[in-house]
Amino acid sequence: MKPSSFEKRVKRRITGREHDFFAVCSPGLKKVCQNELLALGISENSLKPIPGGIEFKSKLAPCMAFNLNLRSPSRILMRVSQFKADSFEKLEKKLAAIDWNLYLPQNCSLKFSVTSKKSRLYHSDAIAQRCEKIILDQLRLGDTVTVPGKKKSLQTIYIRAEKDAFTISLDSTGALLFKRGIKQNVGMAPLRENLAFAMLFWAGFSKEDILIDPMCGSGTFSLEAAMMKTNLPPGFFRSFAFENWPGFSHKTYAYLKKQAQEKFLAISEKEIFASDIDDMALTALKQNISNHDFTRMIDVSKKDFFSIHPSGISPEKKGVVMLNPPYGKRLGEKNNIRSFYREIGKKLTADFKGWRVGIILPSRGCKSYLELKLELRPIFHGGLDIFAGIGMV
Ligand SMILES: C[S@@+](CC[C@H](N)C(=O)[O-])C[C@H]1O[C@@H](n2cnc3c(N)ncnc32)[C@H](O)[C@@H]1O
Repeated sequence: MKPSSFEKRVKRRITGREHDFFAVCSPGLKKVCQNELLALGISENSLKPIPGGIEFKSKLAPCMAFNLNLRSPSRILMRVSQFKADSFEKLEKKLAAIDWNLYLPQNCSLKFSVTSKKSRLYHSDAIAQRCEKIILDQLRLGDTVTVPGKKKSLQTIYIRAEKDAFTISLDSTGALLFKRGIKQNVGMAPLRENLAFAMLFWAGFSKEDILIDPMCGSGTFSLEAAMMKTNLPPGFFRSFAFENWPGFSHKTYAYLKKQAQEKFLAISEKEIFASDIDDMALTALKQNISNHDFTRMIDVSKKDFFSIHPSGISPEKKGVVMLNPPYGKRLGEKNNIRSFYREIGKKLTADFKGWRVGIILPSRGCKSYLELKLELRPIFHGGLDIFAGIGMV
């Protein structure tokens, strides 16, 4: 079938040309993301680290691959336009000049994330209202085809204004990238998957390594490591906002996923050892791994960390141990934190010699309680500035 004039326009303006993208990263994870982008084939000189993440140039099809494969960023934005506006009139005129039908489906509802700094237009709700009206009016009158029966999609539009310079971006991701679509059952205080990945990366975890996850909760470290070992892309089981765009090609995306599927590895030996003292957390993890056939490679057992001897798990090979101990209110007073981390440090020193370790620390000071040589990496998690301690016991 011959492409319609609309399809030709989408090809010419959207899919056939490069755009600026922005990988949004949590504080501390930018370098990890940069590494991932390089590994996925983006050239070094097209990457531009800026506050909050990394800018890069790409066509839309690779952006789908980045959403599918990147483990560390929070989301990927596609830049649509940049312009100056110091009045609503100018803002509306610039927005109306964008052909929104090429970017968005007719049947979508819009959500806005607006920030304005040192700009004449500073009222974020008023900016969002004006922009929404213009875009929805255009979509209503536009020539995109609404797929009958297709559910209305939600599209977030990011508007940033600084000194009257506006940047308009579309969120290509949807739910944050740390949501892998695998962990249906979540325990108390789960770690975000992008952070778990960064810690595994910093500890040099590779496909050949044994992992011990002795305070596993609902198993974020274990599941992330299992995905890495089996070559399962982090986004394989979830959907993305770009799937609703007129420029989205089912065929290209299905091909990308098929290519990924051909690289899947089946692992039938136990290489990941997850344990916890909490029955509910273990039940959640068992359900999560049985949904995705990780049962043969992840061993789940009820154990107190202080009773684990890694020589009983992996007598020949030393591997990686990852710890996300309880902290904050659940652990109570400062003295408890001090003695808990002291005990963890003593246990690691006594029984985990030669193992690489990654441990979450609620404060810089906790490093001294552990008495281990660790490199501290500041991270942000659950609304708190905390640290990942990485080193070798
Ligand atoms: C912050 S949560 C871990 C969350 C986990 N990373 C996740 O993503 O779901 C801390 C876990 O440590 C466990 N825990 C506390 N003391 C323990 C001990 N002595 N041995 C084993 N697990 C312990 C708790 O039951 C809890 O599940």
